[in-house]
Amino acid sequence: MRNIMKVYLLESPGRIARAVLEQIKETLSEIENPVLGLATGSTPLRLYGEMIRDYNNGGFSYKKVRTINLDEYVGLDGSHPQSYRYFMNENLFDHIDIKKENTFVPNGVAKDLDAECQRYSKLVSDNPPDIQILGIGSNGHIAFNEPGSSFDSTTRVVDLTENTIKDNSRFFDSIDEVPKQAISMGIKDIMKAKSIILIATGTSKAKALRRMLTEHYAEDSPASVLQMHKNVTIYADESAAHLIPEAF
Ligand code: PGA
Repeated sequence: MRNIMKVYLLESPGRIARAVLEQIKETLSEIENPVLGLATGSTPLRLYGEMIRDYNNGGFSYKKVRTINLDEYVGLDGSHPQSYRYFMNENLFDHIDIKKENTFVPNGVAKDLDAECQRYSKLVSDNPPDIQILGIGSNGHIAFNEPGSSFDSTTRVVDLTENTIKDNSRFFDSIDEVPKQAISMGIKDIMKAKSIILIATGTSKAKALRRMLTEHYAEDSPASVLQMHKNVTIYADESAAHLIPEAF
């Protein structure tokens, strides 16, 4: 049976970032050793900006927080400017009081990638995030779980689709430089989070958002698995939400 997902429609990505920050602070401040699941890409950037602003203004402290990221490109180490470890350091971790050793991102250059995936999956099982932040791909992916990914998948090496390589090429000098594989937290791992916040902004997300909300859940629409999670909140701006039927 489907669970009810709360959907908040706010007028701008900035309003969404502030609302999500409030939800994070409210939830994490009640937990002794909170775990926050984080994402990369354009979507969470405003949120991270708000977290830094709030911290600099004497707001929330991250000293006791552990973070677990969703994914990392295979072949890029943390010093590579396009790696997700680098992204997280640059856009969040270096600007707040979190202990670096409490921040987890898969190691995309591990000698034994399968062992790294197993280690990461266990890390998630042992420390399920109190909140997991998610974006959604224009093809409906969550993390790098592309359409067709099993809902039973755990952390593993995945091949990126042409669609995702094209979407992500904007961060690289040329499309040929985009890695073709990533380590991705699996769908089963993501579903272990105690609560999930999915953020969708911009028209490129409209079809995927409508699909995940209004069609029956199916593995060719990875985000639709969230219909089966007990605690999901979706924040969308008007351009991402414009295809959702009014009666929804
Ligand atoms: P984006 O990616 O935030 O860069 O649009 C979202 C995603 O692919 O999950």
